[in-house]
Amino acid sequence: RRRTAILISGRGSNMAALLAAAADPSYPAEIALVLANRADAAGLARAAAAGIPTAVVESRPFGKDRAGFEAAMSAELDRHGVELIALAGFMRVLTEGFTSAWAGRMLNIHPSLLPAFPGLDTHARALAAGVRLHGCSVHLVTPGVDEGPILAQAAVPILEGDDEAALAARVLEQEHRLYPAALAWVAAGKVTLQDGRAVIVAPPAPTGQAL
Ligand code: GAR
Repeated sequence: RRRTAILISGRGSNMAALLAAAADPSYPAEIALVLANRADAAGLARAAAAGIPTAVVESRPFGKDRAGFEAAMSAELDRHGVELIALAGFMRVLTEGFTSAWAGRMLNIHPSLLPAFPGLDTHARALAAGVRLHGCSVHLVTPGVDEGPILAQAAVPILEGDDEAALAARVLEQEHRLYPAALAWVAAGKVTLQDGRAVIVAPPAPTGQAL
């Protein structure tokens, strides 16, 4: 089982979905660490209650020194023998140095159908744009924010009368379904990159760049 760290900044509902999936011994990833960049991240207590090691590396004291913050995080990741990273509501932009070091081994979940609506406030922006379909994406993390190869997506309708909260809840339900599936593919070695795109294979393909 691939030793996986989940990085969070807040509530941690996606983290909880990953923990639930990984509680099954046949799941190809085991959660070795939940790391938060804020001591007040609510997900920390949830992880601790599930018996998962937790760590806090506060980003705030580092200010604009992102590399310094990442070095402190890396020390924790190393200490726990982490092989894969799942960003789950982790609200810090990572440097090229960090994303390169973890290329092909770091996933993120984003609450839109990428490449539409990268960045923040995705549900409000989807409503304002008048799109009829919205959703979530799991992608590999590359230096460009929300730009990495897409592993999996789920779509939901936008319904008459939706507000941001209603839409967010509909998308979140799909996030909790999608992320465990996508992490399992990566942990099981079923993802290869071809021409910068993620290809899901079973069993691992003999060609292509294995991750
Ligand atoms: C989720 O909707 C996730 O997709 C989003 O934040 C929420 C975290 O909720 N992530 C981003 O916006 C990343 N930029 P959670 O803490 O309950 O998983």
